[in-house]
Amino acid sequence: MNELPMKAIVYHKYGSPDVLELADIDKPVVTDDDVLVRVRAASVNPFDWHFMNVCAARNVDMVRSIGADHVIDYTQEDYTRSGQRYDLIFDAAGNHSLSDNRRVLRSKGTLVMVGGAMNGNWIRPLLPALMAIVISPFVSHTLALLLTRGSKEDLIIMQRLLEARTVTPVIDRTYPLSEAPEAIRYLEQGHARGKVVITVGTA
Ligand SMILES: NC(=O)c1ccc[n+]([C@@H]2O[C@H](COP(=O)([O-])OP(=O)(O)OC[C@H]3O[C@@H](n4cnc5c(N)ncnc54)[C@H](OP(=O)(O)O)[C@@H]3O)[C@@H](O)[C@H]2O)c1
Repeated sequence: MNELPMKAIVYHKYGSPDVLELADIDKPVVTDDDVLVRVRAASVNPFDWHFMNVCAARNVDMVRSIGADHVIDYTQEDYTRSGQRYDLIFDAAGNHSLSDNRRVLRSKGTLVMVGGAMNGNWIRPLLPALMAIVISPFVSHTLALLLTRGSKEDLIIMQRLLEARTVTPVIDRTYPLSEAPEAIRYLEQGHARGKVVITVGTA
């Protein structure tokens, strides 16, 4: 039986990526209702999607290559000020107010709120979401919050979409497990182009 210790990134206090350490830990004990899963790779933070996509000039070609028909460079143009109206806004950047987004939605349009820049402030990104919950019953728009939850059904759907190449994953950088703090530091700069992936082992 293979009794090699298991590698893990551990932390003993809350803090920046500096508190993370690569350590040998005991292999978890598997009981009757448990399954031990060998992880080969994990992303540091998930997500991407598109129809029309808002990004910076340096990302335009990449965004087109994964299927966007039309791309707006957010450093040159504010999509909430262009006069254009949309059926669906999928807001991953979260740097526009709820009213700005609603102003450019068609009357039966849908706003999906995914994320927001925290910049050290945990409350600020939550405000549009809280406001959306309050006003949602009284407006013609559909206002939705998206919170990822791992489920077997969703993973099977993702597997099919990936196998059919309907969804194209974009991996910016790959780090070994021992460099997980560096991966998180890179992600925290806010300029990752796609996913940042941590790989575990090679076999
Ligand atoms: N709701 C959920 O369950 C859930 C799950 C995962 C992630 N999220 C959220 O989703 C968001 C995206 O996450 P991520 O993993 O993709 O990492 P991220 O680090 O937030 O994304 C970085 C990318 O966003 C671009 N970007 C920054 N500001 C932008 C803007 N105003 N308009 C368009 N593009 C902009 C950057 O381009 P430049 O470098 O050119 O600026 C870079 O390519 C985050 O806010 C995260 O918190 C939510």
